[in-house]
Amino acid sequence: MKKTWWKEAVVYQVYWRSFYDSNGDGYGDLRGVLEKLDYIKKLGVDVIWLNPFYESPDRDNGYDISDYEAVMEKAGDLDTFKELLEAIHDKGMKVIMDLVVNHTSDQHPWFLDSKSSKDHPKRDWYIWKEGKNDRPPNNWRSYFEPSTWTKDEETEEYYFHSFAKEQPDLNWENTDVRQEIFRMMRSWLDLGIDGFRMDVINLLAKQEGFPDADNPEQISYLADNPGIHDYLQEMNREVLSQYDVMTVGEIPFVNPETGLLYVHEDRDELNTLFHFQVADEMPVMDLPKYKEIQESWYKGVFEKGWNSQFLNNHDHTRQVTRYGNDDQYRTESAKLLGIMLHTLPGMPYIYQGEEIGMTGVRFDSIDDYNDIAMKNKYKEEVAKGRNPEEVFEDLLLLSRDNSRTPMQWNGKEHAGFTEGTPWMKVNPNYQEINVEQALDDQSSVFYTYQNLIELRKEHPVMVYGDYEDLSKGKEPLYMYKRTYKNTTWLIALNHSEQALSVKSPKTLAGEATRLVIGNYKVDAEARSILPETLDLKPYEARVYEFVSAD
Ligand code: GLC
Repeated sequence: MKKTWWKEAVVYQVYWRSFYDSNGDGYGDLRGVLEKLDYIKKLGVDVIWLNPFYESPDRDNGYDISDYEAVMEKAGDLDTFKELLEAIHDKGMKVIMDLVVNHTSDQHPWFLDSKSSKDHPKRDWYIWKEGKNDRPPNNWRSYFEPSTWTKDEETEEYYFHSFAKEQPDLNWENTDVRQEIFRMMRSWLDLGIDGFRMDVINLLAKQEGFPDADNPEQISYLADNPGIHDYLQEMNREVLSQYDVMTVGEIPFVNPETGLLYVHEDRDELNTLFHFQVADEMPVMDLPKYKEIQESWYKGVFEKGWNSQFLNNHDHTRQVTRYGNDDQYRTESAKLLGIMLHTLPGMPYIYQGEEIGMTGVRFDSIDDYNDIAMKNKYKEEVAKGRNPEEVFEDLLLLSRDNSRTPMQWNGKEHAGFTEGTPWMKVNPNYQEINVEQALDDQSSVFYTYQNLIELRKEHPVMVYGDYEDLSKGKEPLYMYKRTYKNTTWLIALNHSEQALSVKSPKTLAGEATRLVIGNYKVDAEARSILPETLDLKPYEARVYEFVSAD
């Protein structure tokens, strides 16, 4: 298997608007990231992924871009970005930027031109169709709206949008569009960035003829359509292959087989991907399913391409709330999830605040929320006559704002995030959960993450080791082995609030070992000889190492 720097990397995602506000306007900003770089460095990560900070009307928090080459005022300016980039490089880290090229903002000059008349040379830069008997061209629904089509009253045609109506999709069939995007990508790469996280990149190609869907609610028709691999190979040839960079594609609606096509080492498309089998199919922890997903991706992708590991990000509720226990066992389960993600095959991504065990949030009213996906869905359901409170309750667990509340730096007002009024309310638990507290406590979640990242640098088994699940049907236990050359790691995780006694694997029980990392104190004997029976406490996680003589 080819070794590369990015396979060995740990990525830290900075949702800058909620990270740190340097100028008191209530929004985090690029200078705020700069001011907190020592903190990120202390954690030990290799790469920082910055969410989009391009010029944008900000209807979807920067995912609606009106100028790909300018910086949004809330975030700062280009000079600040250059300063940040240099500082990150000086500290030995790298930066990847979000690349959002499936759609632009409806305020992008390209779209304004495209919309201005049917004959405008840029008409074809977006997707326009006539309606059918005064109805949209087909029955598809978008991620954020009941229809993927919005009618422009002036020219009396409908334009296509996979997301909100303020986010029209670009027409990737048009060569000028592709060339312009490639040029823009080069301009950022020439500035020195180290790669891209590519937003919904497998949505670029659309279904030929836009046929009606049998089940319009199942929106997978938006993704993974014929032609997509041609676009990505062209992008690779024309842009990516000219630089030593990493790329991670956000690739919804794929399985290991279809996912591999994006990241296969021989196909020259992307390096790695985020697939959504976990996030989409598991609202809460479902261990048998999780094991199945891990195994199928390992079998499908390992040694051919590269997978990524994450359980939360700016779109997906904080993992300790969704998949752990954010109450009595918050610290233990936050550590367990970290230990799991960092010992499974694939690149681990840490979403800001995860490293201190930040939790999801529950505000009282829909007015406290900002997420366009949640708000549009709320309006849609209430308009159908459903009880507003019930709709609100239903939307709470998966609201994207669970992960978007400001970073909790300390116990002071607004969690030390801003001196002004935060753009989104701070999670009320900031007095107990914050960075200052975490750094002061050697047993905090933070130091478990720091340790995990350090271990990866010394133990290639975490990166290149093969994987075997030893716990099928034994839930709430998740136990697996990673092996690389003469080193084997045994990972034992108790995904429950009850103590659990489990037999150690026969081949390893009684062997000399070393407890590499865990989340409880383990007595000396059980740290050096693998016991016949492992007595695991609630949410206990242990990683044992065995080294055989070659
Ligand atoms: C991706 C982003 C999400 C955004 C959407 C549309 O899923 O992560 O935040 O709303 O794409 O760009």
